[in-house]
Amino acid sequence: MVALTERIEKRLTIETVEVAEDTTAIRSLDWDRDRFDIEFGLQNGTTYNSFLIRGEQTALVDTSHEKFRQLYFDTLTGLINPTEIDYLIISHTEPDHSGLVKDLLQMAPEITVVGSKVAIQFLEDLVHWPFKRRIVKNGDRLDLGNGHEFEFVIAPNLHWPDTIFSFDHKTKTLFTCDAFGLHYCSHSTFDEDLAAIEADYQYYYDCLMGPNARSVLSALKRMAELKTIKMIATGHGPLLYHNVEELTGRYRTWSQTQTKAETAIGLFYVADYGYSDRLVQAIANGITKTGVAVELVDLKAAVDLQEIRELVGRCAGLVVGMPPAASDATTQAALSTVLGSAKDKQAIGIFETGGGDDEPTYPLLNKFRALGLHVGFPVIEIREAPTENTYKLCEEAGTDLGQWVTRDRSIKAMKSLSADLDKALGRISGGLYIITAKKGDVSSAMLASWVCQASFKPLGFSIAVAKDRAIESLMQVGDRFVLNVLEEGNYQKLMKHFLKRFAPGADRFEDVKTQPAQNGAPILTEALAYMECEVVSRMDCGDHWTVYSTVYAGRVSNPDGLTAVHHRKVGNHY
Ligand SMILES: Cc1cc2nc3c(=O)[nH]c(=O)nc-3n(C[C@H](O)[C@H](O)[C@H](O)COP(=O)(O)O)c2cc1C
Repeated sequence: MVALTERIEKRLTIETVEVAEDTTAIRSLDWDRDRFDIEFGLQNGTTYNSFLIRGEQTALVDTSHEKFRQLYFDTLTGLINPTEIDYLIISHTEPDHSGLVKDLLQMAPEITVVGSKVAIQFLEDLVHWPFKRRIVKNGDRLDLGNGHEFEFVIAPNLHWPDTIFSFDHKTKTLFTCDAFGLHYCSHSTFDEDLAAIEADYQYYYDCLMGPNARSVLSALKRMAELKTIKMIATGHGPLLYHNVEELTGRYRTWSQTQTKAETAIGLFYVADYGYSDRLVQAIANGITKTGVAVELVDLKAAVDLQEIRELVGRCAGLVVGMPPAASDATTQAALSTVLGSAKDKQAIGIFETGGGDDEPTYPLLNKFRALGLHVGFPVIEIREAPTENTYKLCEEAGTDLGQWVTRDRSIKAMKSLSADLDKALGRISGGLYIITAKKGDVSSAMLASWVCQASFKPLGFSIAVAKDRAIESLMQVGDRFVLNVLEEGNYQKLMKHFLKRFAPGADRFEDVKTQPAQNGAPILTEALAYMECEVVSRMDCGDHWTVYSTVYAGRVSNPDGLTAVHHRKVGNHY
């Protein structure tokens, strides 16, 4: 129970550090945050970084997450009287950086808010009263005096459509907010320990930046025009100082690989409409789990129709988020181009964005069908504000689509094993188990046989979980789940049930007898035994994660019962 108590008290601390001349970083340290979104697990917490730059005038770059309200303002007022801040630069409006903007403007109504046009529009809806503003475009400058001249770089989609970078010519610091960040919480202000951070740096890129690889490459091109960048002051994790070239280089390499991927799915939507951004992210994550690259295109900003034709031409699948019924000419032309360039053998998936005025889905789906496209997942309808379940459904829909476009590749890989080796490997056998997990309102389950005790002290075991499994996102480090052991002679019904092909978002426990474990995950009443478990670490094993977990409670329902054993003939199937 000790572990349980420890987890409930989430540690929030704040640190301020002089990171360059006249530049103070205010780092909000969120030590125990274990999720960004349901499908984005964090192993090392995160930080939200805000920066105070004092020339003759003073600017604050971004704020913090609202959970830091008290701590953040106590710290900020210790550094400066907020009414002396002249500018608040908004790199982008995602709530973890802009959560305290309204409070700050209440304290200091004379502050001029600086941001992209989209960001300012968003803030108008958030703040609800007039505030001073300055909309900036690429190349615009803001002189704070004492040499601190800021230059703005428009960097849409990194990772929100309204993103700008700000470059201080005096300190050669580029403030990038989400881009080049990582979810990593430590007392280190900088990136001196590359080995410690590189895995999280890449994971963050894969989750948030990979689908926007083209936008990353455009931003890198614009950054090159700034000549020398000494430091990248990111909004999450350590600031990049010791490895600026190395780490920006990695963004370039990954993005180039991504845009040349063998199999890609194009995801077309109107950014900032309805719930599109978050839904898109969940679908993109689901696709990425299958090893397929995703390319996001904002229909409203897609002026180059030839680029759309080229992208659709090389994509194995397409996903379209419904735009508003009365959308502008650019959006309509872009959508018609997607439709006009689609071809049979591609897969299509359509989702509503829940803007209240979406174009109807079925007429569009039927047009794609008439062209011979395969429907990769049923239309995702958004009737009310999305919940974690909606996002899970989107993720699973993305995975289904990704699995469909890679089906030939998967079959080929299975056949490539030599017959002797395949049969020999098949002699490795295991028991039969159902893993069940629940996080908030989201639950999932899977049948597993690659389960093996791995330690006495602590009591622990490993499970190999395929990277594209639905339950994978509920088995991040720190997550809790139940291992249900199936009984010899009495497992067929449960096995058959959990091996069904479930539609995205389906309730996997319908018609199954369960009771909740202490950790909330369902215990299967008909299982021989169950154990309550917590994920401690995950190892990347090619197409699977080996998930090591400890066991802290459990029971056997039939002391004489034996575990069902799974014998198989070949090693390239479970
Ligand atoms: C006998 C047997 C054993 C399995 N063992 C595992 C396993 O250990 N790990 C795994 O990721 N999948 C395993 N699977 C596949 C999953 O059971 C999975 O539920 C199924 O393919 C559906 O995938 P989904 O949950 O992602 O929709 C096994 C399947 C069978 C038939």
